Formats: sequence, C-alpha cells, structure tokens
Amino acid sequence: MSTQGIVRLGVIGCGSMCRNHLNSVGGASAAIAQEYRPYAERVEVRGLADVDLAKAEAFKEQYGGAYATTDPDRLFADPDLDAVIIATWHDTHAPYSLKATAAGKHVLIEKPMAMTEPECDAIVEAVDRAGTKYMVAFRCRFGKGAQDVKREIPNPDNVIAHARYTSIWPETSWAQDPLKGGGQILSQGCHIVDLMFWLAGSDPESVYATGGVFHHDSPEVIDTINASLRFKNGSVGAFLGGDGGTGRLMMHHPLPCGCPFWVLAVDKGRSGLAIDHGHDARFESCVPAATWTPPYDAKVYSQEEGADVSSGVPNILPAFAKSILNDEESPAPAADGARTTRFILKCFESARTGKVIQFG
Ligand SMILES: NC(=O)c1ccc[n+]([C@@H]2O[C@H](COP(=O)([O-])OP(=O)(O)OC[C@H]3O[C@@H](n4cnc5c(N)ncnc54)[C@H](O)[C@@H]3O)[C@@H](O)[C@H]2O)c1
Repeated sequence: MSTQGIVRLGVIGCGSMCRNHLNSVGGASAAIAQEYRPYAERVEVRGLADVDLAKAEAFKEQYGGAYATTDPDRLFADPDLDAVIIATWHDTHAPYSLKATAAGKHVLIEKPMAMTEPECDAIVEAVDRAGTKYMVAFRCRFGKGAQDVKREIPNPDNVIAHARYTSIWPETSWAQDPLKGGGQILSQGCHIVDLMFWLAGSDPESVYATGGVFHHDSPEVIDTINASLRFKNGSVGAFLGGDGGTGRLMMHHPLPCGCPFWVLAVDKGRSGLAIDHGHDARFESCVPAATWTPPYDAKVYSQEEGADVSSGVPNILPAFAKSILNDEESPAPAADGARTTRFILKCFESARTGKVIQFG
C-alpha cells in the first residue's frame, strides 16, 4: 500500500505500450472514465528504465520523474517507489515480475504475463507470499462492448473466440522470436483468450487443438490454432488464433487498428458479440422479448466516442492504482495471467501430440 495516498511509479520498457499507460498519469486524458479519474490523479512517475537510455530519458522529459536508468534493479531497490509497470519484451516479464514482487513493489505487467508454466507458477506463488498487488494489462476486459456482453450474457453456455491477425507477422519482429516474444498466438491471442475466460466466468477443464506452422519460416512458433474446449462449469468453447492474414475476411470492422479479434457469448438463444478487442458489441435474441430485450443491435463506440475511449486502455493504470490505494483485489490477477499462458501452451501441446489435454 502506498504510504502517502499516492502511487509512486516506476516503468520498465519505455516503448509504445508503456506510453499508452503513462498518458493516464495525472488524470488529464479525457478518455479516462469518471470512476477511475481520481486514482489517475494520484499516480506520479518516479523512475524510468529502458535498455536504451535515450528512450528512458525521453520518457522522463515527457512524463517527469526523478531519474532515468538502464538498470531496472535501481527501481526495485528504490524505497520511495511503490509500483512498477513492466512493458518490455516477453522474455523479461517473469524475471522482472519476480524481482519487483520480492522487493515489495506492486506490478502492472503487460501481456503475456509469462512464457512458460513454471514462470506462471512462480509468479502466482511469489505474489501470494508477498501480498502485493499484481495486475495483468488485459485490455479487452476494459472495452466498452466487452463489458456490455459480460453484463447481458453473464452465464454463457458457449463462448467462441477468434483472434486471427490481419497480416503475417514479419520474421524479424522481436515478438515473433521464439525466445523474446513467442509469436502471435501467445502475444496477441492472449488478449482474446483472456476475454473468453472472463466472459465464460470459468477456468478450462480440457482442450483439444489442431494447428501448426503454416505461414512462417521457423518451425518453432506455432502460427495457427483451432481449439475446442470445455470449461470447468460445464460450458463449452472454441478458440481460433493465428496470423495467416485472414482476419479482415472473417470480420470486417472499421476500427483504425483493424484487428478483427472477437468473442461470441451464447446463452440459450441470446448472443452477445464483443468486437475488436471488446471495443464494440452486437446482440441478438431468439427468445421472447419479455424475457430479454437486447440492449442494442450494434454499438459503434469506437466511432461515437473514439477508439481510445471505447478501448478502455486509459483505465488500466488508474484501475491498478485504485486496487493499490484502496487495498482491493487486482482487476486482473496473476492467476488470470497464468490461466491464459497455460491455456495457449496446452493448445500448442495438443496440436503437437494430437491428444486431449486436461487441466489440473
Ligand atoms: N495491450 C496491448 O494492446 C499491447 C499493444 C502493444 C504491445 N503490448 C505489450 O507491451 C509490451 C511492450 O511492447 P511494445 O509494443 O511497447 O514494444 P516496444 O518495443 O515499443 O517497447 C518495449 C521497450 O522495452 C525496452 N526493453 C526491451 N527489453 C528490455 C529489458 N530487458 N529491460 C528494459 N527495457 C527493455 C525496449 O528498448 C523498448 O523501449 C509487450 O509485452 C507487448 O506484448 C500490449
């Protein structure tokens, strides 16, 4: 818990996503929801780290702070720092999470939380032991359309998730590197896998997947997964992920980012579709209107209110600060980050072995 009613923040990885989070500091962004604004006002930047010092210094120039450094250990050792955002390449998420947590810092981690199952276990255990706050920046939960679907279809019997990227990722991208990034399904697919579990309100029981490497040179990173799963609450689902460039064909949507990531939740004739990272939604019903009236046909928040507002991304850092300042449960805890990484790795295992994989 912050000692002074302020969250004194460090950031590691002064790149594009970290900038999105820091734009919420101070609460000046009009895209922050009223409920979170008071908490955005109570965040101040203190330390900035990046392997590239020039980037850390440029962020210090723009967002303030006491120091810029290439050494994240300086942040972990800083007694005047309460929390860190970790927005680096994926292979450093787990080691930095463990160091920050051991130092008693609250952590906002960019997705995916970790790249392996042992890393997931270690983070969950470390956060439990430390009693610190740990939040995974799963943006889709904050999307306006996704929140409408969650409210309207609270107990779906079927949840179908689609995360086919609109282009083939370049082999040269760090995110496509098997060690640094893990590929599109782990990196981008985890958004929609998290949304699938969040909307299902349940953990996975078993999965069977087919897939493989169809669009890339390296055989190491699976780029296509078609998975069928059962949730622990008895409902069923499917997850289709990949970067074969099929996305725009599957779901045309006019958002600037153009990623047709969607999740469909179905409950006995009522359906809600969270579109494009959950920015927007559509609803359909074949049950009598007296039982349920869909709230709307299609809402285009992303155009009515702006992609920034509809995405909910500006609310992530304030929501993290709220959980610290009020000592509340994390809005997306380590267990949820672990569930997502674990599920995707089990999909890969199933695709490689041809077996149904059970979850513990
Ligand atoms: N939520 C979203 O919608 C979304 C969108 C884009 C990226 N991301 C995630 O954000 C994270 C960062 O991605 P990005 O697009 O901002 O990448 P980026 O390359 O723009 O920024 C990453 C920064 O981290 C620095 N860095 C790399 N390794 C480091 C290390 N070991 N220690 C300190 N600094 C290091 C790099 O120099 C760079 O400045 C990734 O986890 C990515 O998956 C999330």
